[in-house]
Amino acid sequence: MYTGLQHLHSGLAYLVLLALILVITYALIGALSNRQFSDKDRKIALIAFILSHIQLTVGLILYFVSPLGFEMLKSGSAMSDSAVRLTAVEHPLINIIAIVVITIGYSRAKKGTVSKARFRSIYMMYAIGLLLLLSRIPWSIWLA
Ligand code: HEM
Repeated sequence: MYTGLQHLHSGLAYLVLLALILVITYALIGALSNRQFSDKDRKIALIAFILSHIQLTVGLILYFVSPLGFEMLKSGSAMSDSAVRLTAVEHPLINIIAIVVITIGYSRAKKGTVSKARFRSIYMMYAIGLLLLLSRIPWSIWLA
């Protein structure tokens, strides 16, 4: 179960990051070309939203299965070792915040009425979310 979840979480990370980059670029082009925000634009933004929420769910389960997650927090060693602190505290916490930011961006764009503001809500909030995610990826585990 642990290895399966680890692979799923690792593979989904590529999809989430790629989807965010594509959606941000698409929304920026939409805003710059002064066109109307359509339902197609909302659905494209929804793809990255859904993928990030699936990743959040898998991450939460992994947190309680992995020896690098809650196990480390319980052991009390999470704060003194920076590598342990990353997977046990910083990565989960910052990534949850990133997904909240992405969710706000999506829902504002969905409810909005002014096209430029709707595009901006997507590219700004998704870009902040993406930067937060990138800042706390355990790169040494991922790319090892
Ligand atoms: C979009 C959000 C997220 C992304 C892009 C992401 C990405 C990653 C990546 C690339 C790794 C290294 C995977 C590997 O090669 O083994 C990882 C590990 C991990 N992630 Fe996430 N993650 C996200 C959200 C979360 C959340 C919300 C939690 C927990 C609440 C979480 C918990 C963990 C844990 C515990 C590990 C270490 C797993 C292990 O190797 O035992 N992640 N994450």
